[in-house]
Amino acid sequence: MNQSPVLDLLHKRRATRAIRTDPLPDDVIGRLVGAVRLTPSCANNQPWRFLFIRTEQDRAKASEAFTGGNLAWAPRAPLIVVGSANRDNDCKHDDGVTYHLFDTGMAVMNLMLEATALGLVARPMAGWKPELLREQFEFAADDDLVVMLAIGYPGDDESHVPDKYKRIEEKPRTRKRADEIVRHL
Ligand SMILES: Cc1cc2nc3c(=O)[nH]c(=O)nc-3n(C[C@H](O)[C@H](O)[C@H](O)COP(=O)(O)O)c2cc1C
Repeated sequence: MNQSPVLDLLHKRRATRAIRTDPLPDDVIGRLVGAVRLTPSCANNQPWRFLFIRTEQDRAKASEAFTGGNLAWAPRAPLIVVGSANRDNDCKHDDGVTYHLFDTGMAVMNLMLEATALGLVARPMAGWKPELLREQFEFAADDDLVVMLAIGYPGDDESHVPDKYKRIEEKPRTRKRADEIVRHL
């Protein structure tokens, strides 16, 4: 059986850190937004909210929020995205599931897959300070800030990537075994 186009894309997607600085054209941005819009959500509430930060000035502002290793490479990305989930648009089932976060995670994945299909790198990050972004970019009080992404074309110049990350990225991908994550009855 041939590998499906979806699995092809999933294999191709890698969160690498060597990103070129050239800006992304409007049609590429439009395709990323289009992929987000097609995401399914509980009750079709579409709770995700994305801030696409493209201007040099605003990227510099957003980059102040990065922490740890992200400071070395992520500020170079020509597109920085903040993914947030609007609590008021949670479908509020009484089952303890935070659907606005779940739905937003799926939207982020769609964005990353379309980015991969377009030949881009889209690296998700947890290493940043939400309170700083909240203050700088005036998020609504009921928006939960979930993720930042550094997006751009992959580059050969790794001079800004710390050595320890280069070594990790050179290694083959590791994943848990199927029997650790799936039960079959
Ligand atoms: C929620 C989330 C947070 C992450 N945070 C960071 C981060 O702060 N910095 C970073 O360099 N990579 C970060 N990553 C990237 C992961 O380290 C990477 O996806 C993982 O090692 C698997 O590698 P792969 O995406 O190439 O398959 C994050 C990924 C996710 C999904």
